[in-house]
Amino acid sequence: MKTMNRDSFEIVDSSGHYQVIARPQGYGVIRHRDSGESMHSVNEPADEARSLYVEQSGAVKIASSGDTCAVWDVGLGAGTNAMELIHSYESAPRREGVLRLTSFENDLTPLRLALAHPELFPHARHEAPHAICSGGTWRSDDGSIIWELLAGDFLDRLEDAPIPRVIWYDPFSYKVNTHLWSVAAFRDVLAATKGAESSLFTYSASTAVRASMLCAGWHVGRGRGSGPKAETTIAFTPQAALAVDARQSLLGRDWLARWERSDARRPIGDLTEDFESAIRNHPQFLPS
Ligand SMILES: C[S@@+](CC[C@H](N)C(=O)[O-])C[C@H]1O[C@@H](n2cnc3c(N)ncnc32)[C@H](O)[C@@H]1O
Repeated sequence: MKTMNRDSFEIVDSSGHYQVIARPQGYGVIRHRDSGESMHSVNEPADEARSLYVEQSGAVKIASSGDTCAVWDVGLGAGTNAMELIHSYESAPRREGVLRLTSFENDLTPLRLALAHPELFPHARHEAPHAICSGGTWRSDDGSIIWELLAGDFLDRLEDAPIPRVIWYDPFSYKVNTHLWSVAAFRDVLAATKGAESSLFTYSASTAVRASMLCAGWHVGRGRGSGPKAETTIAFTPQAALAVDARQSLLGRDWLARWERSDARRPIGDLTEDFESAIRNHPQFLPS
């Protein structure tokens, strides 16, 4: 039976912890029933996936020019980010390198729901997400795209993935998926990059999340805005932070001054270290 929620968006299906919401504009979003958080809540899911994750990370450009580009898709969800990347590389004029996409997910219900509603989720019309859902792997005919699912908790699986050049960090908010935004989690992710020039892209611009990243040793910069959000966040490994583009986006002493006054200055999770001095003395805030 179809029902209407209080915002008059139609709930067309549900399973486990998730609901499928049909927006009046004709596209669908998956909503986490317990928390009320929706995947790509701020504008059309494919638009946000393209702008925030695919374009900003430059993954298509890297692979097009002949390199292998390993991308981590943390929180596969409905597969919107992953499929935006695949569509984008499939339509690139040159595909000289290999795109190695690794998705992490501990509950395939959102993907199953999206695949059951291709009228609301156009990316469900491609064979790739069906192969991922049923067998955990997909490879394009010409071998230029290799997509693999690592099922289970992201932090238990990250050592099984290729070293990433690009990380898309898209779990639910720190209120829901708290441990994934902790200093300990960001330390584990940084360790898994093994000294590579890697960049992490996320929708969050929260002061507490940025404090977690800084404490864990990431260099933290401003990402492009998305919907009503004026900015998002890009985190760089120390090696990636040396690039000119990265240096231009890094948070500076103006952000540090605001952090000093903020009520949300404490990083997320249990802390053993003196986080205030770790952040104040972070190399990105020291005079060069
Ligand atoms: C906001 S949704 C992701 C949306 C997705 N990127 C897309 O484009 O459709 C967050 C996803 O993270 C997954 N998730 C949450 N905690 C996780 C964990 N510890 N390990 C793996 N996946 C997790 C959730 O099950 C959910 O599907």
